[in-house]
Amino acid sequence: MSKHVAIVGATGAVGVEMIQCLERRGFPVRELTLLASARSAGKKLKYKGADITIKYLTPESFAGVDIALFSAGGGISKEYAPHAVNAGAIVVDNSSAFRIDPDVPLVVPEVNGADAKNHKGIIANPNCSTAITLMALYPLHKAFGCSRVFASTYQAVSGTGAQAIEELAAQSRQWAAEDRAWDAAALDLESKVYPYQIAFNVLPQVDSFLDTGYTKEEMKMENEGRKIMHHPTFRASVTCVRVPVFRAHSIAVSAEFDKPISVAAAREVLAAAPGLDLIDDPASSKYPLPLHVAGRDNCAVGRIRKDCAMENGLSFWVVGDQLLKGAALNAVQIAELL
Ligand code: A2P
Repeated sequence: MSKHVAIVGATGAVGVEMIQCLERRGFPVRELTLLASARSAGKKLKYKGADITIKYLTPESFAGVDIALFSAGGGISKEYAPHAVNAGAIVVDNSSAFRIDPDVPLVVPEVNGADAKNHKGIIANPNCSTAITLMALYPLHKAFGCSRVFASTYQAVSGTGAQAIEELAAQSRQWAAEDRAWDAAALDLESKVYPYQIAFNVLPQVDSFLDTGYTKEEMKMENEGRKIMHHPTFRASVTCVRVPVFRAHSIAVSAEFDKPISVAAAREVLAAAPGLDLIDDPASSKYPLPLHVAGRDNCAVGRIRKDCAMENGLSFWVVGDQLLKGAALNAVQIAELL
């Protein structure tokens, strides 16, 4: 029963969470192989109190591996996932490399866990904002039939990776160290990861732009949502925004349904949804916050109200730790299904 698990990108923001998810959830690990770039080879990371030496990723890294969790970017997945599959491993890939490939299941266990068994060696983990949104949207879709959504995301820097976390921290430290006035927080703090300063700012760009004016990230909600929900006519118009939050993405969603929907009926459905907490008491300012949801497996939904600009519309606010439900936890849950 117990498995030889490999993590590709073990030193990254998602990779370290994968190690912790395996440990915390008691995944039956017989052996754990940690893989990263030459920069990290020889360094050590802890698993169950023991030091594991990180190895340099090569095509030969997967001998004897049963499950390989990939989170080192799309290029690495495209190049190395076939080597893992040829060596007999099942790949759970966190990048966007294979998500829309018809031979690759794209899985959120609470939505379409059964799809995982149709794999041909690779299973894809969805886009983080899409996975978190579907934790609330899918149960509503099952009950009321969702035709389309309009959404805006508020995405944390850890979704970009370890260097982006450091960029927000460094800019904040620099601003504080220089004891600047609030109105002197101009765009002059050093930026390497993002095109502009992220501290004290919001960036209406996540990923690169398409000819349509949307970004690639913005189209993932529709494209991946259709595949995960088995709903080929689902439509989503999304604006993705990077915000100076370290951890946990928030998404403001307005959804239109085929059937009439009331706030009470929506609350009942959401309260029963797996992996989702209902935090919705506006009179006492209770709603989900990224600072509260960070580090937690469950996503949270609140601010539930009838949408005033649509027939059969509902607006809500859903928050999830994108390193967990949007990445590492979802990947480990897929491995558990296997
Ligand atoms: P490393 O730390 O050795 O650079 P993040 O998304 O947080 O930036 O993390 C990216 C992850 O992908 C890290 O674990 C990083 O390892 C890994 N990675 C990046 N480039 C390579 C590569 N060429 N081969 C293997 N792993 C890589």
